[in-house]
Amino acid sequence: MSTYTHGHSESVLRSHRWRTAENSAGYLLPHVRPEHRVLDVGTGPGTIAVDLARRVAQVTATEIGETELDLSRATAATTGVNNLDFHMADAHALPFADDSFDIAHAHQVLQHVSDPVRALRELARVTVPGGVIAARDCDYAASTWWPRVPEIDEWLRLYRSAVRARIAPSWRRDARAAVKHSGGDVDGVQRGECRLSRHVA
Ligand SMILES: C[S@@+](CC[C@H](N)C(=O)[O-])C[C@H]1O[C@@H](n2cnc3c(N)ncnc32)[C@H](O)[C@@H]1O
Repeated sequence: MSTYTHGHSESVLRSHRWRTAENSAGYLLPHVRPEHRVLDVGTGPGTIAVDLARRVAQVTATEIGETELDLSRATAATTGVNNLDFHMADAHALPFADDSFDIAHAHQVLQHVSDPVRALRELARVTVPGGVIAARDCDYAASTWWPRVPEIDEWLRLYRSAVRARIAPSWRRDARAAVKHSGGDVDGVQRGECRLSRHVA
């Protein structure tokens, strides 16, 4: 289990609810087929999961607790999308059988878990051979912007010191190594974000 530093305050949720499959998970859309079963781990308010559900047969949305899960249940209820199921699950030990999903997805989640490589292996375990696992996250050790904004520089300094005790800011490179070691592909590392996808052989 992990400590979720951001929490689910209204200001955090406002930013997460802005997310759609198009604006936040475009790397996944070319792989999505109507017959697919998709797992969205750490779904938060579930706006990406609900968007994906409009394109596929079934989406399984997971969160670390029932209260957190209620956020995505509410999003599904207000949009009227009903091909989602909801499960409490820690990304380190998913309560699903091997090969349960065609696609396993984690959007801005791996940076928050204590062992992202283990979580990535769990995503691979529950994905069918030939399926896709995809994750998108920030690499705070590589984050930069221009023009410089002193307030954002200060935010990054504070954020790095807040999370340093829990996870290495360079975890992305460890995850890349794990995916490559298991014969997968690492796609699209740019602008301080990375997209990892594994086409399981
Ligand atoms: C930054 S939010 C991303 C939410 C959503 N995926 C999105 O992009 O809108 C990270 C989410 O990961 C969840 N989370 C934190 N630790 C987790 C863990 N160990 N297993 C599964 N989910 C976790 C948090 O509860 C939180 O909702």
